[in-house]
Amino acid sequence: MSAALRVDNLHYRYPDGQVALSGLSLEVAEGETLGLVGPNGAGKSTFLLHLNGLLRGQGALEVCGLPLTGKNLQQIRRLVGLVFEDPQDQLFMPTVFDDVAFGVLNLGLGAAETRERVERALEAVRISDLGERAPHRLSLGQRKRAALATVLALDCEILALDDPTGGLDPAGREEFLRLLAGLPQTKLIATHDLGMVRSLCSRAALMDGGRIVAVGPPEELLSALGLLKAHRLA
Ligand SMILES: Nc1ncnc2c1ncn2[C@@H]1O[C@H](COP(=O)(O)OP(=O)(O)OP(=O)(O)O)[C@@H](O)[C@H]1O
Ligand SMILES: [Mg+2]
Repeated sequence: MSAALRVDNLHYRYPDGQVALSGLSLEVAEGETLGLVGPNGAGKSTFLLHLNGLLRGQGALEVCGLPLTGKNLQQIRRLVGLVFEDPQDQLFMPTVFDDVAFGVLNLGLGAAETRERVERALEAVRISDLGERAPHRLSLGQRKRAALATVLALDCEILALDDPTGGLDPAGREEFLRLLAGLPQTKLIATHDLGMVRSLCSRAALMDGGRIVAVGPPEELLSALGLLKAHRLA
């Protein structure tokens, strides 16, 4: 199977000097759902921000065979849909509808297709009734859904989801898991929700100190109690 993502020896230091990625290497196969787990500060969010070039570190990164370079950046941004950890970073328009439409209009699609895609995305995350609401007046779980809808509407090849179930109520979480399970895209999910990794992911990668320290089938990786304890996951 060909690789959707190929990352080799990625290093990143924030402008204030904080080292966040230190030699991260990982491959994600096309169609796979990979759970990225690791303690607070491991570098999960920093890594996801590299996947569509929002942050640029040192090392090699390929998306669907395309090296991430300035020249390929636009194309790669169409391939990777990134859902931020904090929905506030994703939602900035006056209404939820406008937020979901924003990216679709940027793809150059017309009004009718845009409306259709927005309605489909809102329906997929079960917030069709919230389209006219102001994002900043929604609950966290509702904002999480709206943020996912903005990316679903773009029909990307790869979804990079940062803590998608954080802050959702139990029924909302179950709905979200069903929704994610039904999405055909390659998925990379950063999370502390080990139950989600067990039920949804074909592989799990454990990250700590800015690098991947173990990769394997979720049932194996997540039953290695010593390993989990060593990395603050149990
Ligand atoms: N904007 C920033 N400026 C400086 N350092 C940062 C910034 N954002 C994150 N860091 C640092 O980079 C490292 C990795 O943080 P990151 O947010 O990627 O971790 P994480 O694995 O996503 O954690 P969490 O599980 O808490 O979401 C941490 O040491 C963090 O303090
Ligand atoms: Mg994070």
